[in-house]
Amino acid sequence: EIESNIRPLTLEDYIGQTAIKETIRIFIEAAKKRDEPLDHVLLYGPPGLGKTTLAGVIAHEMGVKYKVTSGPAIEKPGDLAAILNNLQPRDILFIDEIHRMSRPIEEVLYSAMEDYCIDIVVGKGPAAKSIRLTLPPFTLIGATTRAGMLSSPLRDRFGIIQRLEYYTDEELAQIVSRTARLLETPIIEEAALEIAKASRGTPRVANRLLKRIRDIALIKYEKNIDFTVCLKALELLNIDRRGLDEIDRRIIQVIATQFKGGPVGLETLAAAIGEEKDTLEDVYEPYLLQQGLLQRTPRGRMLTPYAYECFELGSLSL
Ligand code: ADE
Repeated sequence: EIESNIRPLTLEDYIGQTAIKETIRIFIEAAKKRDEPLDHVLLYGPPGLGKTTLAGVIAHEMGVKYKVTSGPAIEKPGDLAAILNNLQPRDILFIDEIHRMSRPIEEVLYSAMEDYCIDIVVGKGPAAKSIRLTLPPFTLIGATTRAGMLSSPLRDRFGIIQRLEYYTDEELAQIVSRTARLLETPIIEEAALEIAKASRGTPRVANRLLKRIRDIALIKYEKNIDFTVCLKALELLNIDRRGLDEIDRRIIQVIATQFKGGPVGLETLAAAIGEEKDTLEDVYEPYLLQQGLLQRTPRGRMLTPYAYECFELGSLSL
């Protein structure tokens, strides 16, 4: 599958997140030197920044196998017990969207993370008894877009907590060039940088844009991706050069016109846009905040003066 082939396997090949790479490399080496599992790792930050990719890189660098699951996918404590019990010593379990685990499942994780054991209840009623199951020493890598939504007992059990940051345009251009090479699609540097600028700091967006622009170049222009093809394709995809898509622009328009620039509550805004509140909060808002177009106040979301400048929305005192 293309998706897995374009993922880097080593820290060396993983572009960006320099601060994280530098520290994680030390922890990996120390764990290997002591012949111990790596301490549990929590990766948090906006979606698409490479948390799953980084977990795979960590497993590869540790030289262990890794198993991927997600908070919503684990339905019963027994599911989690089975997954943990099937790991080899030092293996990595990656749980995506770890903030979406149910409370009973989260509680199984506490003792699993701390003491590599779980207590399971077998039987029902008066015959029920608790059996202690010893687990192989493993590493949990948890990923979440919302570190604030983890309970503190869970958060406290991670020895390594790292926040992923948005990528710079230069880093994204490197990722685009790397992916283009792997897809055997020639691309000039200027086009890679233009795609990078339209990718809202996010490798997942950059790689997706590259694939769509590659399709457009092939079918509509019958040539490789050059700078002009790239600009025309972005226009066709309705993405502006800042990377804002239709929904981003609608958010800004709606706050300006329907809510006089804000403040407006998240739920009210989500209803007016016709998007899920969670999507708005996890996907759209972080980038608009980071770009300085939106601000969060105790009374809700507001446009910044800079947003008015960028979008020629007229006077602030609408
Ligand atoms: N693909 C997705 N994220 C990446 C990264 N950080 N480095 C290289 N390739 C990637």
